[in-house]
Amino acid sequence: MRTDQTSKSSIYVIFCWCFAACGGLMFGYDIGISGGVTAMNDFLVKFFPRVYERKMHAKENNYCKFDDQLLQLFTSSLYLAAVVASFGASKCCSKFGRRLTILLASIFFLIGAALSASAQSLWILIFGRIFLGFGVGFGNESVPLFLSEVAPVKRRGSVNIMFQLFITIGILIANLVNYGTSFLHPHGWRVSLGVAALPAVLLFVGSFVIPETPTSLVQRGHESKGREALKKIRGVEDVNEEFEEIKEACEKAERAKGSFWEMAKKRSNWPPLVIGVMLQVFQQFTGINSIMFYAPVLFQTVGMKSGASLYSSVITGAFNVLATLLAIFAVDKAGRRMLLLAACVIMFISQVIIGGLLLGYLKEANTLTVGMGIVVVVLVCMFVIAFAWSWGPMGWLIPSETFPLEMRTEGYACAVSTNMICTFIIAQAFLSMLCRMRAFIFFFFAAWILLMALFVFFLLPETKNVPIDAMVDRVWKLHPVWSKFMGDHDEAARKTAAAVELV
Ligand code: BGC
Repeated sequence: MRTDQTSKSSIYVIFCWCFAACGGLMFGYDIGISGGVTAMNDFLVKFFPRVYERKMHAKENNYCKFDDQLLQLFTSSLYLAAVVASFGASKCCSKFGRRLTILLASIFFLIGAALSASAQSLWILIFGRIFLGFGVGFGNESVPLFLSEVAPVKRRGSVNIMFQLFITIGILIANLVNYGTSFLHPHGWRVSLGVAALPAVLLFVGSFVIPETPTSLVQRGHESKGREALKKIRGVEDVNEEFEEIKEACEKAERAKGSFWEMAKKRSNWPPLVIGVMLQVFQQFTGINSIMFYAPVLFQTVGMKSGASLYSSVITGAFNVLATLLAIFAVDKAGRRMLLLAACVIMFISQVIIGGLLLGYLKEANTLTVGMGIVVVVLVCMFVIAFAWSWGPMGWLIPSETFPLEMRTEGYACAVSTNMICTFIIAQAFLSMLCRMRAFIFFFFAAWILLMALFVFFLLPETKNVPIDAMVDRVWKLHPVWSKFMGDHDEAARKTAAAVELV
């Protein structure tokens, strides 16, 4: 019997992992696909003839050949839509549950993929990106939450990083698909954009099979269904202890709950809010997405041919996946701070050297030598590897473990939307910044990396091996800066204890 139960449980866990795969894959695929598509001549001729003309006269200006607001809008519109959607998604998640939110995400994705793959005009193309953005907003809010709530407590950290791992696999698949479709003229780009529908179909079917999470059911007043769901997830009949814990956490959260603004006014909630928001700003201002979105374009800027630049993006994409695997094993051993700080050093060095090389050797109208081009690709890989073991996964992991339960969905939504806003800014501004700032853009990102290293050093506490609900006592109250914000936490705890006694 025991073996049966255990195997039922592991089949379910494996299913959840596959499910996470689809959510992460879809997001990653969208990140990775636009850069390659915008580097394809067939695509440029159809939608951006002016950019194509400029590219053909590249010798006139290396740094500005792709500078076009509409071209950047093609990439960035998705993230703007995701910002708007993440607020609706957070409401949908608490009112109607994680499962329905995930189902909606997959429907948005399907519509988006169909519109963009069949687009005959630029506006339909952008309309398709907006639907994909709704999908990203709904998916990124609900899938990680779903995963944290169904994962066994001891595996929460690694399961969370699994989501990031699948984002990176999605980016790599997009790079590979782009490389393959760049040989299919003139409609290869349609295949690239249409393939996004595959993980969306899996997610759509999956959302009918998975159960709602026990926490969400209890929070919405369906206690007995919550208990049944927990039994199904764990594969055992006796789930009393865990179920009581879930109930208690939900009741505690219910008592402490107010509007988002009421909670944000409480000084003791500021530390996780500041950290959740700043980690997202910093994650994006490492400059990672100038590479993820525009690597093929960037490599063409330094003089590579279209094929070589797509090929080089595949290489950076592969390193991104491998180094994320490293994070899964290192995060609970080396700790969050150590990984972030070590990465800052490597990312700083690579940005400064890339900037220095381009400043010295890439003028307006020449190309780098092959050797120099290879050095740039190696430096970009170093940068991506360091990001992938640190700011990539930690940007999502730390906010998911530092908010108190009563503001977890709202706090996490705040982090997701800050991430999307900053991603939008980079997507919309990078090519224009590259045109105006030239090689100095790399020094700009290096300066941000310096700032974020100082932030981590002085303000980010270590949360390795700390249970989520013990953060206040074991982390915030012991921190030299954040402990000063904890006064109203004790007061609120006293009031809650008094209320419980009255009941
Ligand atoms: C970031 C994305 C980035 C990706 C790269 C994610 O954590 O949020 O913006 O493109 O990592 O792997």
